[in-house]
Amino acid sequence: MYKYGVVALLLAVSLLYGFGRHGAKRPYRFPVLTFFPALPGEAEGTTRGGVALGRMLFYDTILSRDSSIACASCHKQWAAFSDAPLAVSRGIDAHVQRRNTPPLFNMMWQPAFFWDGRAANITEQVFHPVRDAGEMGMMWTDVAARIAGNKTYRQMFRTVYGSRPIDSTLIADAIAQFERTLISYRSKYDRVLEGLDTFTRDEAEGFLLVNDMTKGNCLHCHTSDSDPLGTTFAYSNNGLDKVATAGGFRDAGRGAVSGNEHDNGKFRIPSIRNLAFTAPYMHDGRYSTLEQVVDFYSDSVQYSPTIDTKMGLVHRGGARLNADEKKKIVAFLLTMSDTAFVHDLEFGNPFVR
Ligand code: HEC
Ligand code: HEC
Repeated sequence: MYKYGVVALLLAVSLLYGFGRHGAKRPYRFPVLTFFPALPGEAEGTTRGGVALGRMLFYDTILSRDSSIACASCHKQWAAFSDAPLAVSRGIDAHVQRRNTPPLFNMMWQPAFFWDGRAANITEQVFHPVRDAGEMGMMWTDVAARIAGNKTYRQMFRTVYGSRPIDSTLIADAIAQFERTLISYRSKYDRVLEGLDTFTRDEAEGFLLVNDMTKGNCLHCHTSDSDPLGTTFAYSNNGLDKVATAGGFRDAGRGAVSGNEHDNGKFRIPSIRNLAFTAPYMHDGRYSTLEQVVDFYSDSVQYSPTIDTKMGLVHRGGARLNADEKKKIVAFLLTMSDTAFVHDLEFGNPFVR
């Protein structure tokens, strides 16, 4: 109870600063993104008040059954909103999660959510962790009642959504508004694209290697033509495990969602942005360094029935890169890490400032 008192006080203070009735209704101003795909339609309707409210909810343990866990407990800003350095997060009652916690950024352009794409959009995604018994373990009606019982939240909801009753739809909408603002666009790579910076020699050669079909061949999967998202968002099996039959994967991934055996062992291709902050890597967090990831693509790609045809060098275990090439690929990859994003105060915990 004492804790809630402090929370209420902080909320009240933040209400006075920057959450005035007029400011709250104003559209949120998204940054100008030179090389990104256009802002999707869902960006419209994002208001400053909605974002501020969603940010509070994202950082508030009020969403979990025993008030021990917030979204931010598993999605940490300094780790680009992943749960680095954990391979898998712990939820309520120390319940171990099944897969590595993905980072959160540039979600407006993401066609589906989770490693297997089982949530269709950013708002629907929010429904999962709250009611998941192993994540936050709450009934939505109870969450809504708790939030409605807090005077400051009541006022904020009224300012943003008028007289509509506080329910799961509005809570998810507010969190989604905040999540849309998590845009990572200020890495060295971005500055180079804009002509404001230049690659070092290693980085430049690494860039050629990741594009080269006979070498890294990474950008066929980790970007779509010159857009800087770092992934095509396709479902793919990049050859992590040697599996004899489509039924043999330990985690069926996309196949468990689509019901199609040909999708077994496929996962959504993750972005190669912000890798400096998000180790360990892959859906199960099996690799703890980028060097290990590049070693895998170079020397240990495994055959399985659903392997992506773009992994064309599987017959010789991968791209067979030498030590110098590996080093340059890692140097290039790191240019896509966005320090401004992980330090941006706008995305930080509103309760500790
Ligand atoms: C106990 C740790 C935990 C908590 C708490 C948690 N998440 Fe997650 N989150 C995960 C894991 C693990 C995944 C990946 C699960 C999968 O793909 O099967 C995930 C996936 C996501 C994704 C999909 C990202 C992508 O790239 O597809 C979003 C968005 C997200 N979480 C937002 C939230 C929000 C919002 C909350 C709070 C309401 C929240 N998470 C609470 C662990 C957590
Ligand atoms: C055929 C498509 C494909 C190609 C080509 C490809 N990748 Fe991947 N990459 C994937 C998929 C799919 C995953 C996720 C696999 C999983 O977790 O099951 C992944 C995961 C990764 C990750 C882990 C990211 C994270 O957040 O966990 C890194 C880093 C990575 N790839 C880098 C590379 C590099 C470097 C190359 C070139 C040497 C490359 N990829 C080539 C499909 C591809």
